[in-house]
Amino acid sequence: MRQAGRYLPEYRKVRSQAGSFLNLCYSPDLATEVTLQPIRRFGFDASILFSDILVIPDALGQKVEFRENIGPVLSPRIRSADDLDRLRTDEAADRLEPVYQTVRNLAAALPSNVTLIGFAGAPWTVATYMVGGEGSRDQAETRLWAYAEPQAFERLINLLVETTAAYLIRQVEAGAEVLQLFDTWAGSLPEREFERWCIAPIAEIVKRVRARYPAVPIIGFPRGAGQRYAEFAQRTGVNAVSIDVTVPLHFAKTEIQPGCTVQGNLDPLLLVSGGKAMTGEVDRILHSLGEGPFIFNLGHGIVPQTPIDHVAALVEQVKSYRG
Ligand code: CP3
Repeated sequence: MRQAGRYLPEYRKVRSQAGSFLNLCYSPDLATEVTLQPIRRFGFDASILFSDILVIPDALGQKVEFRENIGPVLSPRIRSADDLDRLRTDEAADRLEPVYQTVRNLAAALPSNVTLIGFAGAPWTVATYMVGGEGSRDQAETRLWAYAEPQAFERLINLLVETTAAYLIRQVEAGAEVLQLFDTWAGSLPEREFERWCIAPIAEIVKRVRARYPAVPIIGFPRGAGQRYAEFAQRTGVNAVSIDVTVPLHFAKTEIQPGCTVQGNLDPLLLVSGGKAMTGEVDRILHSLGEGPFIFNLGHGIVPQTPIDHVAALVEQVKSYRG
């Protein structure tokens, strides 16, 4: 959940050298360096590739910028079948060669006991940025376009399935040992749309990756899915789900963990506040889910104001736990 980032001074330094954020993602030496920074400092068990979910729209020919204090801005927005025709869909995954080079660098540089995680955005979440043109609270523009023109929207989802599966397969070829699919905005989908735009495309990506690499573990993160996490775990074929901060631990234990590894779910803001509030909740998570299969993690991305010594204290607490 964003191990690298602005909470680390060494990241801010490399980030300022790189110029734009996308340039950082596409400079293998710099991207390798910022991926390794948190591993050196904290000794995590796994390392997540430094990149972003929005390199896919960029590879498809949409203009992607990261603006300070605003976040990602994509243009022109995708709002019609004609807009889809203008995307460069042929061999889009080939244009992400610098990302594969970063994965190869990391596979060579990481100690053998640190797992390398590759990732991509899930089709629904990436589509919300491509259609909305920026982040939004409720993804209204994308939901409206999907209701108004389900066939055109389905074309967009299908081309994201295609490109994302090819992209993930290339990451495994380059040395990624585990894959994670981020569906950050899954929670805004009603029941039937959740089925159609979250579960079905992810199940298809899992199927395609497995056809090439049957054994690669895949983690899904349908953030905000609530009780539908159980169905997501069963129906997509993922090996693990990353639970967000709102998922009750008892539900995770009884409804998800019997058939699927659970990852999560400390509130990133408890990592900011630290102290007893944090250690108490870490303890509760470990005692609820620690018998496994379980991966300790945050319930969403680390935030820039996170004190570094709270991260170190968290790692020590988790590593000293003996279920
Ligand atoms: O953990 C890691 O170090 C891996 C790298 C990673 C990034 N983004 C780097 C990043 C991962 C796994 C992501 C995923 C991602 N990107 C998601 C899904 C997960 C989630 O957090 O919900 C989403 C929705 C995005 C899109 C995105 N990228 C947004 C909305 C933003 C702006 C928000 C912000 O904090 O400024 C980004 C930028 C981004 N991606 C940063 C990082 C480290 C911060 C950029 C910077 O200022 O340097």
